[in-house]
Amino acid sequence: MVKGCIFDLDGVIVDTARYHFIAWKELANELGFEFSEKDNERLKGVSRMRSLDILLEIGDLDFPQEKKEELAKKKNENYRSYILKMTPDEILPGAMEFIKEVKENNILTAVGSASKNAMTILDRLQLTSWFDAIVDGTKVSKAKPDPEVFLKGAEELKLQPADCVVFEDAEAGVEAALRGGMKCVGIGSPENLGKAHLVVSGLHDMNMQKLSQL
Ligand code: BG6
Ligand code: MG
Repeated sequence: MVKGCIFDLDGVIVDTARYHFIAWKELANELGFEFSEKDNERLKGVSRMRSLDILLEIGDLDFPQEKKEELAKKKNENYRSYILKMTPDEILPGAMEFIKEVKENNILTAVGSASKNAMTILDRLQLTSWFDAIVDGTKVSKAKPDPEVFLKGAEELKLQPADCVVFEDAEAGVEAALRGGMKCVGIGSPENLGKAHLVVSGLHDMNMQKLSQL
């Protein structure tokens, strides 16, 4: 029986990918090259510094570590200027309803996100109090596909990994959930999330019946 639901944030509860895209694109343009939406797909679920490495690879550029940190900081400041303006109406369709349904059924809820901005986003969306545990990029040292973020989530909920279901939109996140010994619902298309136990197009397509059948 499912005792806990652990939600990735970006791409599952809220579509922050477009703000990440705008901020990375502005940085790429400043550095003199183009960055497309297709390129941006490669950054989903990936940590900030690893994202920068991928971006620089696309631009065929490389910089010393100090300069990279400066560039990542610049991108993050730009990204934050967008997320600081977010409102609760940016919560993805069905997410609030499903989280409420889960809680009404006495299932614990957690966030498991790679983002160091997760608390800001949850605060802007007025969602913080809906979660029994929040594990974000400030609390983990190993990036997905390492299962650390989800194992910490289960631990904070005081649950066994096998009793938890992870909701993930990134391939690396699905991998992390499976490596952690959890059930996983992929949010997106079966094409790249096929390893998940179930794939749905969004939380609007989830319900208690589907959850209990996992
Ligand atoms: C993940 C996003 O949730 O967080 C990635 O899918 C992002 O695209 C990563 O790079 C880190 O986010 P932040 O907010 O710490 O730069
Ligand atoms: Mg995600």
